[in-house]
Amino acid sequence: MDRNRRRLYSLLVDFYYGKLTEDYFEDTTYRKVYRKLYFEIFRHLSFIEKSLALYLKKDTPVELYAALTLGASQILFMNDIPDYAAVNETLNILKPKQRGFVNAVLRKLITQKDEILKNYSIYDDFPEWYVNKLKKNFGEENLTEILYSLNNPPLNNYIDLSSLTFYNYENFEDIPAQALPVDRASALIPLITKDLKVDKIMDACAAPGGKTVILSKIHPLAEINAFERDQNRARKLNENVEKYKCTNVKTFNADVLKYEHLQRYDLILLDAPCSSLGTIKRHPEVRFLRNQKILIKNSIKQLKFLTTLSDFVKIGGFILYSVCSNESEEGVQVINNFLKNKSNFEIVPVNAPDEFCLGDFFYSVPHKTETDGFFAALLKRVA
Ligand SMILES: C[S@@+](CC[C@H](N)C(=O)[O-])C[C@H]1O[C@@H](n2cnc3c(N)ncnc32)[C@H](O)[C@@H]1O
Repeated sequence: MDRNRRRLYSLLVDFYYGKLTEDYFEDTTYRKVYRKLYFEIFRHLSFIEKSLALYLKKDTPVELYAALTLGASQILFMNDIPDYAAVNETLNILKPKQRGFVNAVLRKLITQKDEILKNYSIYDDFPEWYVNKLKKNFGEENLTEILYSLNNPPLNNYIDLSSLTFYNYENFEDIPAQALPVDRASALIPLITKDLKVDKIMDACAAPGGKTVILSKIHPLAEINAFERDQNRARKLNENVEKYKCTNVKTFNADVLKYEHLQRYDLILLDAPCSSLGTIKRHPEVRFLRNQKILIKNSIKQLKFLTTLSDFVKIGGFILYSVCSNESEEGVQVINNFLKNKSNFEIVPVNAPDEFCLGDFFYSVPHKTETDGFFAALLKRVA
């Protein structure tokens, strides 16, 4: 039995039952070909579904539909998997009585594959609400190029923790032990604080700890309290803190909003929970897991995080708010709403390379910077 294909299959079943979270994707035990297949499925899912609709009635059971999606994605988009293998391996996952129908549909698809692929358009790969968002954010002019770019993975970067410089290693064997694999934009966010004089730092939403590790190296003499509510993610945070020898970091597996904070901080990093739509290059599935309603809900939550935590910033101290999203609901609107009620805070221009800045804010755009899309704002408590 092909274990990895079976896992992809159960992941698709979960997806169609509405249970998929992108944490699945962090699983590095998938062999390379399965990661590639995962990407192809979720990059092209709308088109795959549109193609399958030619052969299906509306109420195909999820277990069969997931198998069809898995088989069809290989037939249409994985040239290195022969069609017969795509069909046979898919059928092997199913119970004998489920196989006849799936076999018939996939074989029909094979005979009409060239015709079907002639109708492929990059616009089929993205849900309509998301395309409309992109139009609003970046205009219509280069939309096609933007969509193609978003269907490609971002650059793999590493930051050398001793010199805090970035590397783009081609060969994994060249990576030094003290190099942290990071998205460049994500790593530039803690670096915004590199010229600030800070002794007490809170990393409010810390796991898996990419930004915690960098903060620890930028401010080696500061005390850093890193909070993470989720137990499994807190474990990952602890592993990273230990692996990268961040001796000035103390971790707390706790809800940062409910914790009784007895001290005030010079700097709070609030890398807030968000839609993660900015990670679409490495998480192609997010386009199907989010919608406008979720963005609005998130912005209310994010404002609550910012407002609650701002009380724990010392006068003269800073709060660095960030999200891996380019959507204004989760970015600039949260900051504007916060400042309406908190006139004792003001925006400070971020310290970052020009291509990562928009006015006073940090704003990385995946199709331009080949990184994840982030928004960040630095706020100073003035009274
Ligand atoms: C965007 S992720 C943080 C990524 C992290 N800063 C990094 O760079 O590796 C947000 C994290 O906040 C955690 N979180 C959500 N609500 C929280 C809360 N109330 N208290 C503490 N952590 C929370 C989530 O479990 C998640 O791990």
